[in-house]
Amino acid sequence: MTENYTHQPVMPEEVAQLLVTDKEGIYVDATLGMAGHTLKLLSVLGPKARVIGVDWDPEMAGIAATNLAVYGDRVTIVQGNFANIDEMMKRENITNISGVLFDLGISSLHFDKASRGFSLRNDGPLDMRINPGNPLTAYAILRYWPYEQIEHLIRVCGERNAARIARAIIAKRETKPLETTGELRDLIECLVPYRGEKIHPATKTFLALRVAVNYEFDNLTRGIQKIIPFLSKGGRLGIITFHSLEDRIVKETFKFMAKLGDWKHVTRKPVTPSLAEETSNKRSRSAKLRVIERK
Ligand SMILES: C[S@@+](CC[C@H](N)C(=O)[O-])C[C@H]1O[C@@H](n2cnc3c(N)ncnc32)[C@H](O)[C@@H]1O
Repeated sequence: MTENYTHQPVMPEEVAQLLVTDKEGIYVDATLGMAGHTLKLLSVLGPKARVIGVDWDPEMAGIAATNLAVYGDRVTIVQGNFANIDEMMKRENITNISGVLFDLGISSLHFDKASRGFSLRNDGPLDMRINPGNPLTAYAILRYWPYEQIEHLIRVCGERNAARIARAIIAKRETKPLETTGELRDLIECLVPYRGEKIHPATKTFLALRVAVNYEFDNLTRGIQKIIPFLSKGGRLGIITFHSLEDRIVKETFKFMAKLGDWKHVTRKPVTPSLAEETSNKRSRSAKLRVIERK
């Protein structure tokens, strides 16, 4: 049976409108996913424009290649971590770009496909690696990290019951380590019962594990640092975040860049999805888009 996964890009119109300043420029989609944003960009760009699409997950890069095949050499797909985006640009002989988009986090496929181990609802192995070639998994963190590190990790992601959850994880592993997302969810539900609230009590623990497995904050900081030297005058950097910790990093980084004098805010306040989009695409609800431009 062929599995069929889809991903609806978040705020595609807003992204195209706020990111494209030169219709024949070179654009970078640093988080290509299933290529939803790249397809949108290509639909508004001219025939000489190029898009470089990056994804850390080889599976996503493969899906994107299929979805973008009709564009031929107007699109280059690179599999790798955007934290090393400067090396990718050099390999492609690119010195100047007109815009770059980071649509952070993981795609709907990652959430939906139980075997990738990101899903709270579908039981799967405690994996959570964006790039399955990486050595660290959520299982390894829960099995081998000391209590203090697990508690800290979960607390930093905003979980008020971090200490209780971390203690329960340690107690559990003394008899049998947690192996599946379902076991972790059930363990947390025993401590903090789920009564159908909008946010499941295990959400923040799952987020904390994903962020740690993929060192997402590090990647974000490095990705921004490594790409900005390539942005031409008037070139724009757009970032879509899905939770407050990421958004704070972007907000503070953009504030600092604007203070330096070489950059100006395109969006003073973050752009958020319309009510219609939030209704048709629930995953867009927490999205925030911020854009900055090189003066
Ligand atoms: C929210 S999805 C992007 C969806 C995409 N904009 C679309 O419209 O289909 C984020 C993507 O970024 C990728 N990703 C996450 N961290 C990455 C990193 N450090 N380097 C490169 N890609 C990364 C994930 O594999 C995922 O496919």
